[in-house]
Amino acid sequence: MPTHPHAPRGVIAPGQLFVDDQGAVAQLHGVGIQRFGGRFYAWGEDKTSAGTFGGVACYSSPDLATWTAHGHALAVSPDVPDLAPGRVVERPKVLRNPDGKFVMFLHVDSADYAYARVGWAVAERPEGPYTYLRSERPLGNISRDIGVFVDHDGTDDDGTGYLLSEDREHGLHIYRLSADYLAVEEIVATTLTPPSDHPAGPHGYESPALVKVDGLYYLFGSELTGWSTNDNKVATASSPAGPWSDWADFAPSGSATYDSQTSTIVTVQGSQCTSHVYVGDRWDRDDLFHSAPVWLPVRIADGAARLEWRDAWTVDPVTGVIA
Ligand code: GAL
Repeated sequence: MPTHPHAPRGVIAPGQLFVDDQGAVAQLHGVGIQRFGGRFYAWGEDKTSAGTFGGVACYSSPDLATWTAHGHALAVSPDVPDLAPGRVVERPKVLRNPDGKFVMFLHVDSADYAYARVGWAVAERPEGPYTYLRSERPLGNISRDIGVFVDHDGTDDDGTGYLLSEDREHGLHIYRLSADYLAVEEIVATTLTPPSDHPAGPHGYESPALVKVDGLYYLFGSELTGWSTNDNKVATASSPAGPWSDWADFAPSGSATYDSQTSTIVTVQGSQCTSHVYVGDRWDRDDLFHSAPVWLPVRIADGAARLEWRDAWTVDPVTGVIA
């Protein structure tokens, strides 16, 4: 059993590590999570090689708390320059496209973060193995932290896919994807941090996540402070194209989002209620492998989001009830 503080199996304990079915520390860093066929799948950065690429680890769970390891969905590949040892590959996010293929999006970079691209990989099954396709700078823009979103709930169900991408030269972009999610088609919106925070020019938030609740879109992001945490923000709009509201804190101001950075927001649609789970990282720059997950209920309603601290909690995957 790991020596670092870890949660009992079946419980989410913010600040404590998840231990998988093999007794190993789950590598759920910078994670993307989707629910397929009643099971949650998670793809995380394996930090075995600290800050450089150690593979994308895949796990699955019935309840977001009990994790089964499926090994590497995407492994280090000396023959593929973007996936070679010493490279940076972060924030794996997966969508199932309308053809039923699993499409993985990645922040692909060099060790000095100058390459700044988005990469694509595809698989027949959520756990992979994924075949790496390529990387690019979307529409010529630098791209570091990413998020993904499909507009598939509600009555205006069109299954449109979006890529969220941090481009500090212009702001945080929301790109519309092609019908198969394998290419970027156009920018639908670009959001900025308040210009007074960055007098020298554009910026925008990173670690982006987008959810839709009762017809309103909520965009989450973090300030650009590297492995250090900050007060993450949320903005709202009635369409991905905006106009986006001003940004607001969603955790107590000064708590640095309970010392964490947004990774994704999971919607748990249950028979009694729909709950939302904030999935964040508490990075330990000196020991990234043991960086702790900070996952908390986030109440999202009426244009506001509020993180609710819990020492230990569960979410019922059937009813949606948080306990
Ligand atoms: C953060 C980013 C992380 C990682 C880190 C490296 O800004 O959100 O995913 O790239 O920088 O310093």
